[in-house]
Amino acid sequence: MTEPHLADVPDVLLREFAAVVGETHVLTGDATAGYAVDWTGAFHGHTPAVLRPGSTAEVASLLALCGDAGVPVVPQGGNTGLVGGGVPLHGEVVLSLARLDRLGPVDTSAAQVTAGAGVTLQQVADADPALDLGVLIASRGSATVGGAIATNAGGLRVLRYGPMRSQLRGVEAVLSDGTIVSHLSGLVKDNTGYDYPGLLAGSEGTLAVVTAARLQLVPRAAGPVTVLIGLDSLGELHELASRALREVPGLLSAEFFTAAGLAVLAEHAGLAPPLRAPVYLLLEAAGPGAGEDLAALAGDLPVAVGTTAADRARLWAYRERHPEAAGFLGVPLKLDVSVPAAQWVRLASEVAGVLHAVDPDARVIIYGHVADGNVHVNVVTAAPADGRHEEAVFGLVISLGGSVSAEHGIGALKAPWFPLVRSDAERALFTRIRSAFDLAGILNPHVLPR
Ligand code: MLT
Ligand code: ZN
Repeated sequence: MTEPHLADVPDVLLREFAAVVGETHVLTGDATAGYAVDWTGAFHGHTPAVLRPGSTAEVASLLALCGDAGVPVVPQGGNTGLVGGGVPLHGEVVLSLARLDRLGPVDTSAAQVTAGAGVTLQQVADADPALDLGVLIASRGSATVGGAIATNAGGLRVLRYGPMRSQLRGVEAVLSDGTIVSHLSGLVKDNTGYDYPGLLAGSEGTLAVVTAARLQLVPRAAGPVTVLIGLDSLGELHELASRALREVPGLLSAEFFTAAGLAVLAEHAGLAPPLRAPVYLLLEAAGPGAGEDLAALAGDLPVAVGTTAADRARLWAYRERHPEAAGFLGVPLKLDVSVPAAQWVRLASEVAGVLHAVDPDARVIIYGHVADGNVHVNVVTAAPADGRHEEAVFGLVISLGGSVSAEHGIGALKAPWFPLVRSDAERALFTRIRSAFDLAGILNPHVLPR
């Protein structure tokens, strides 16, 4: 996925960028390499320049310059995205928000904090010992607030706290003509017009550049207990997860993976399985009676229990390292799909079969978020990567009433299949919304196709 043509950025414009941010924060040539490829190695791009502003005012000045010159821009956070939405695949300028790393004081009365776009999710989670960020993702040490908002990151606790959009109490953002819009007061009740922070969540850098956010925090889980349960089938696993949702009031997470992924992690990452089963359900709960509730649910099934931080981390590693598993076998195609709860077992059970029908030697690893109807399908292809794998998986998903992107976004990876899930009328509305925000028409032009 390379595109040799670079946006036309004359030297005079590079000098104007440098006048805004300083020469050391305008990267060109080899210095841009790390910003032009994603962490999985699936998306390789090129950029004439990486711009590293240190303030919202600098973001505004840079966007005004790019807007005037008609230079396309890809905003980039921690570069942990999975659909190529933050990589300059078409020679765009990269606007890195990493230096907007100011974390404000925690407002303990409101349980809120204002964080710059470049603050990592882990830093937000660590801001106050009694409070936590509701969103928990494996890449939290690198993923940033701005990127997590732009992708509406989901992760491991959506069933309890919702995705990133649900944590938003306000944003500060810059439009492509350099206009700064800011609504950071954090009021829980504030019916004063359009909820543009909610609209920016999941907009994949196409509407505006988020520079800061007011985030709602949640009470830190008290006495969390993690259990890993071995089961014989995906049907039994789904049934048990559904019971957990009904019977464990303190439930925080309901995650799954299979023996196929665990075998790869055992071989390549030294993660010895704590118990052996075809499929695994990881549940975490907190609060009064959480341990008893989980034990009652597990009954006589094989189970590993973690109550100390070290034991819980050990159990979580089996699930949290699954995103890396396919990468040990090759460059993975990462398809992140969701279906209604009633169809989850069919999706999880049939997806490897539809892939093997078009690529018999493909390696398929599945894992994900049971309670959200969300399966991550990681494929290391053997047949040509000509769209057949996407067609096979998305065909199954659509037949089950699902979505081609549960939480990773459309980005570059899924752009050709966007019309499968959004009607002509919806896409026309999206185009009008986009025009209203991105007056200069320069923000991530190849993401979320018009
Ligand atoms: C996860 O749930 O682990 C993330 O969405 C990352 C991934 O799927 O690779
Ligand atoms: Zn996920």
